[in-house]
Amino acid sequence: MILVVGANGMLGHDLMEVLQGDVRGLDLPELDITDLVSVRKALLTLKPRVIVNSAAYTDVDGCESNVETAMAVNGEGVGLLALTAREIGATLVQVSTDYVFDGSKGEPYLEDDPVGPLSMYGESKLAGELNAAMAPAHLIVRTQWLYGLHGKNFVETMLRLASERSELAVVDDQVGSPTFTRDLARAIKALLDTGCTGTYHVANSGFCSWNDFAKAIFAESGLVVTVNAMTTEQLNRPARRPLYSTLDCGKLERDTGFRPQPWREALKQYLQARTATGK
Ligand SMILES: NC(=O)c1ccc[n+]([C@@H]2O[C@H](COP(=O)([O-])OP(=O)(O)OC[C@H]3O[C@@H](n4cnc5c(N)ncnc54)[C@H](OP(=O)(O)O)[C@@H]3O)[C@@H](O)[C@H]2O)c1
Repeated sequence: MILVVGANGMLGHDLMEVLQGDVRGLDLPELDITDLVSVRKALLTLKPRVIVNSAAYTDVDGCESNVETAMAVNGEGVGLLALTAREIGATLVQVSTDYVFDGSKGEPYLEDDPVGPLSMYGESKLAGELNAAMAPAHLIVRTQWLYGLHGKNFVETMLRLASERSELAVVDDQVGSPTFTRDLARAIKALLDTGCTGTYHVANSGFCSWNDFAKAIFAESGLVVTVNAMTTEQLNRPARRPLYSTLDCGKLERDTGFRPQPWREALKQYLQARTATGK
């Protein structure tokens, strides 16, 4: 059986749909990954073959002021899952982030490039990666710029803003690959089906700035909105973000044959899917 932890989250929902078959999902309050008793009770009862951890404290700016929570959920909680996975012989899949990198490389990051998080979120997720390695069989999947049908995300924010105004400013100096959680879930399935372990990068192919992404969202939705440029410095958020953190996903393709579709195709599918759900 495969257990999805954080099953009510944006990625968790899509994992439940894509993995199918003998899959169980748990989330707060039934399972709190920061609580050893809760973790042991769930895992020793269910004895999953694979644990896919998509639970996290994902408020990047919030992590700067809630360091203890960030480390408890994103770092230590993963350690509790890993130790218990070791006890029951399960494979642990840990979902991580491009924010473990500092964005200064100037070209797409490979799995074994040096890490250097700029934020508490990145630090806590890196601690999670290190802790996941306590499970003898572990798979670390770094991804970025997620959006999906079951969570707050950039696409929904842009569509909401478009209903309120006809002009807005979006940062144009951060570059990455917007990634549809459904495609990420499919890649995780491909990695599991192939028996891969170790670290993999997964994102939709191609890259853009947040400003380009906003323009694409409006163009694909038939909305006329003026998108002005602004810098990350002007936006002045509490957490520092890497400016160029695209992920080289060649290892995923070589080892599984799975190549995530281009980000703009994925965006079109997302917009069609949200229309189909009546949004
Ligand atoms: N979103 C992105 O752009 C992005 C980018 C790169 C990597 N990632 C990583 O991808 C993964 C999935 O992200 P997502 O955006 O799908 O996250 P999400 O929508 O925020 O879902 C996370 C889930 O984990 C649950 N959770 C929080 N604390 C928990 C705890 N102590 N025990 C058990 N469950 C807990 C949350 O419950 P509550 O809602 O009740 O708190 C939520 O259901 C995460 O590992 C994240 O770090 C995300």
